[in-house]
Amino acid sequence: MINTKNSNYIRIFDTTLRDGEQAPGFSMTTLEKVQLAKQLEKLGVDVIEAGFPAASPDDFKAVELIAQSLKTTEVCGLARAMESDIQTTWNAIKDAKKPRIHTFIGTSPLHMEFKLKKTKAQILEMTKNAVEFAKSLCERVDFSPEDAGRSEKEFLVEVIEVAITAGADCINIPDTVGYTQPEEFGALIKYLLKNVKNANDAIFSTHCHNDLGLASANSLAGILAGARQIECTMNGAGERAGNAALEEVVMNLSVRPDFFNFSHNIKTKEIFATSKLLTLLTGQKVQANKAIVGKNAFAHESGIHQHGMLANRETYEIMTSESVGVKSTKMILGKHSGRAALASHFERLGYEFTKEEITKIFIKFKILADKKKDITDQDLHILALGENNEKRLHWHLESYSVSSGSNRLAEANVTIKNTETGETKTAIKTGDGMVDAGYQCIDEFFGKIGELSHFGIDAVTTGINDQAIVNLRIETKNGRVQSAKSGDTDIVKASLEAYLDAVQELSFWK
Ligand code: KIV
Ligand code: ZN
Repeated sequence: MINTKNSNYIRIFDTTLRDGEQAPGFSMTTLEKVQLAKQLEKLGVDVIEAGFPAASPDDFKAVELIAQSLKTTEVCGLARAMESDIQTTWNAIKDAKKPRIHTFIGTSPLHMEFKLKKTKAQILEMTKNAVEFAKSLCERVDFSPEDAGRSEKEFLVEVIEVAITAGADCINIPDTVGYTQPEEFGALIKYLLKNVKNANDAIFSTHCHNDLGLASANSLAGILAGARQIECTMNGAGERAGNAALEEVVMNLSVRPDFFNFSHNIKTKEIFATSKLLTLLTGQKVQANKAIVGKNAFAHESGIHQHGMLANRETYEIMTSESVGVKSTKMILGKHSGRAALASHFERLGYEFTKEEITKIFIKFKILADKKKDITDQDLHILALGENNEKRLHWHLESYSVSSGSNRLAEANVTIKNTETGETKTAIKTGDGMVDAGYQCIDEFFGKIGELSHFGIDAVTTGINDQAIVNLRIETKNGRVQSAKSGDTDIVKASLEAYLDAVQELSFWK
């Protein structure tokens, strides 16, 4: 990685696993987070903000595992400007090849008065202490004056000077509420670079939210004004309307070198695979007309457009779908593929399975390949996630049958088996549809743990034999939210497996 202060290299700081993951509906299990982190590393991001370790033991574990798993990418943890958060963050990231601490404190009048109840002098003191402490633990330290977009400029200069003197090597400027306009945001970066006395000792970064749909435009304005790091997320995931979308910022730089003339390390051909993986893990689809990664981003429907495209692709396309890796969803394995081919594709996707595990998954792969001709990367992710769930959760769907009709209640007969003890449980229940009847059976086994707050079905690609991905969320009375997913060519089976996994996870907390 090139360090960038005075160069034209743009450092990509991905916060999908922190700002993205903290948005409703985007939560992932620890192993899913590790999987996404490996894909982000393959994509070529410079820094991965892996989470907020002080937020919960689960967050801590995920950040720690990501720090231990990545080979080249910097791994960053977020911490409030307080010693206990910073120490916890350091404990989580210390095994990373290149650890980084990102500490922040609110600097706008609203944040200081109402959230923090602190004076300017106290904020300056906390900034100094936090950055100095972070620097005593970790070579790389980012500092963010939260809500910079609505902070007084003169005070921002003071805070930033203190942070740089205390050892911050990167100053991230968040437009926390997505309020600023591109010209305004660019002018803010310019003002800071000009007025902060020690600005040359740090890289300036942007962190723009998308409340007014301007996050990517603001980030690009930041680059033009002198910022050399962009904090962004895949698919624009993040709090409320999200963050600057990595794919948008990067493709602007790539498609318009005549305008921007900046370099970056993103392997753009990995963009689509990364976007798809995030969708698969969270169940959160991107809108069809989303720039770069939406289903329609490269579709040409009208006759006039199709005619133009046939004559010359550039009449209606400014980049090729190949350049962002859309073609990588093609079939990669079929029913004649062997165990070694399967193992090597898992390795390519970043999964580490033992020979015994591959033998187990291979049986499922063969069953799937018999039902579905083309096996894609998405199918392999689903098989792998199923195997990882089996390792963690002991109750599995042993058998089921369901029936339904127009003038009667649906009925389900479900048997589950504990793979550790060999114990089985069976229930027969009626319900409002076959899936509901099946869920009543599972509730009979574990007790009613919570309410289903989201249930979505999607197909991996298209076609009647495709795998259905069921993605659901259960919320308990005390506010715990558990999501789960499962894929199968049979929708009912995928629905039962996802529900069984979520209920088991929640039953650990009961
Ligand atoms: O939006 C924001 O201000 C943040 C900070 C923690 C950087 O996410
Ligand atoms: Zn944010």
